[in-house]
Amino acid sequence: MECSWKTVLLLVCASLGIQYTAIRTLRDSLTGPCRGVYHCHSRRHIDSHWRDFCADGWIPIVTPRKHILLFATTRSGSSFTGQLLNQHPDVFYVFEPLYHVQQAFTNYSSRLRRTLDHRVLLGAYRDLLLNLYTCDLRFMENYIRPQPQHHVTNSFFRRSSSHALCSPPVCSGADEPPDETWCPKKCGPLNLTLASLSCLSRGHVALKTVRIPEVRDLQTLTEDPRLDMRIIHLVRDPRAILASRMTAFSDQFRAWKIWNATGRQPRYVDLTQITSTCRDMMASAETGLQRPAWLHGRYLLVRYEDLAFNPKDKATEIYRFVGLEMEDRVRTWITKNTKCNVSSLSEWNYKYSTSRNSKETAESWRLRLSFDIVRAVQILCNDTLALLGYKQVQSAADLRNLSHSLVD
Ligand SMILES: *[C@@H]1O[C@H](CO)[C@@H](O)[C@H](O)[C@H]1NC(C)=O
Ligand SMILES: *[C@@H]1O[C@H](CO)[C@@H](O)[C@H](O)[C@H]1NC(C)=O
Ligand SMILES: *[C@@H]1O[C@H](CO)[C@@H](O)[C@H](O)[C@H]1NC(C)=O
Ligand SMILES: *[C@@H]1O[C@H](CO)[C@@H](O)[C@H](O)[C@H]1NC(C)=O
Ligand SMILES: *[C@@H]1O[C@H](CO)[C@@H](O)[C@H](O)[C@H]1NC(C)=O
Ligand SMILES: *[C@@H]1O[C@H](CO)[C@@H](O)[C@H](O)[C@H]1NC(C)=O
Repeated sequence: MECSWKTVLLLVCASLGIQYTAIRTLRDSLTGPCRGVYHCHSRRHIDSHWRDFCADGWIPIVTPRKHILLFATTRSGSSFTGQLLNQHPDVFYVFEPLYHVQQAFTNYSSRLRRTLDHRVLLGAYRDLLLNLYTCDLRFMENYIRPQPQHHVTNSFFRRSSSHALCSPPVCSGADEPPDETWCPKKCGPLNLTLASLSCLSRGHVALKTVRIPEVRDLQTLTEDPRLDMRIIHLVRDPRAILASRMTAFSDQFRAWKIWNATGRQPRYVDLTQITSTCRDMMASAETGLQRPAWLHGRYLLVRYEDLAFNPKDKATEIYRFVGLEMEDRVRTWITKNTKCNVSSLSEWNYKYSTSRNSKETAESWRLRLSFDIVRAVQILCNDTLALLGYKQVQSAADLRNLSHSLVD
């Protein structure tokens, strides 16, 4: 009811054809419960292809629409954390949509790639995020290869990780709970128009990415009047990240594995990747902790270890931050996926498995990494470890002694 005058106002605005730039100045008066309505009506005159869907009663969404970004780095526990959001019935979740952008850009000849300004790629990333937050999944067609025909594709990266993309109306005949192998087989090709409609029909959008280096790169999105961003910055002990990458991407980390097995550091081992991971993680955390105005109320720093050691409480905190109720389905999922018995650990080798005893796997790196490597990472990442509250170890005995906590 309290929405109606705003709705009327917006309808009037839309019909008068007031420019989007004029709407921008209304931003502050529109942060109330009409956000979802605003979302659709404001798009109406800038983006005519949604007009019919909006008019057809897909909208209004009365609750304020949240645009959630799980901002993480490779092997920092983001698949697991993303599932916490994916389980919410009113959240439209996509696992790493930027994969397609990166693929499209890196397929250029190497000469072109070298001259490609990093900012161009970041611009394309932000552009895609914005379009997904406003539920235009067909925008992905610019990047998906092979090019989708008639807005339908078989090549949507990790579609199975998204509940919405594996259940009605996107996937009919979905009578079982989706899982990794089940969805692409049973659901057939993905209709991106239907996916967009499914997105519009859900109240909130959550995206996970590991491809944006620093939170500062997201400033234009947090300031965009069409969005109400909530950034969950997921960090993890860099020593654990390294151990996990060595297991998941063993070809790429062959030199590290030789180092780990022999105790001798090969000269060609690449220290730059873990160094830049640490640098980016620290730069973002510092930015967040400085509380700049553009991040106000929009940034939450989460240590994966805290989530793994205490999943229910930490998940509650995340849900409070994004402003959503933690539904029963989320609670059930947590219970099922954090207290698994040892046999579920055999899934560990699967690159993106999330089903695991969360505490045990969060600490398993301490038994799988040589002290020599741990010491090297501690030197490369000492400031990051200190800022995020991860303790250094001074001996192999301390490293292996799991009663000795390394998380402040
Ligand atoms: C990259 O280029 C090759 C050859 O032109 C093509 O077959 C392939 O589909 C392209 N991949 C992507 C992701 O664009
Ligand atoms: C995709 O879904 C839309 C909306 O339901 C429908 O109009 C269209 O025919 C579908 N496309 C294909 C190729 O099935
Ligand atoms: C562990 O899980 C497996 C499969 O989920 C089950 O067969 C087994 O009985 C369980 N073991 C224990 C000790 O709970
Ligand atoms: C490192 O070596 C130990 C044995 O020395 C092995 O158990 C462990 O799995 C190795 N870690 C990785 C990440 O390969
Ligand atoms: C990290 O190492 C550098 C160089 O050795 C040193 O200057 C700095 O004080 C160290 N930082 C912490 C937090 O120990
Ligand atoms: C392991 O760590 C705990 C806590 O710091 C300590 O009390 C205990 O003596 C350590 N055990 C060994 C074998 O060093």
